[in-house]
Amino acid sequence: MPAVTYIEHDGTEHAVEVKAGLSVMEGAIRNNVPGIDADCGGACACATCHVYVDEAWLEKTGKPSAMEESMLDFAENVEPNSRLSCQIRATDALDGLVVRLPENQH
Ligand code: FES
Repeated sequence: MPAVTYIEHDGTEHAVEVKAGLSVMEGAIRNNVPGIDADCGGACACATCHVYVDEAWLEKTGKPSAMEESMLDFAENVEPNSRLSCQIRATDALDGLVVRLPENQH
């Protein structure tokens, strides 16, 4: 199972295993990682699952879709490595993925 590390804004790390095929958002919810509310349930319609992808993983996670880009406009503190975690699927290629949570999500 791909291991994903979520790092809260205060530096608290949550290293969990996320079943391949689930989204990075679902991995957070199932493992009680705080800071990812996922109000829309993964429909790319709320931006409460905003994360920053660690620079080392940007290439492997790929680029956001046009729909994701437009939803990111509603998120706060958006950076070039911002993604909506419900739009990143956990796969074996992402084993070791590190994402950080924005300041306004905790
Ligand atoms: Fe709503 Fe990701 S859970 S946009």
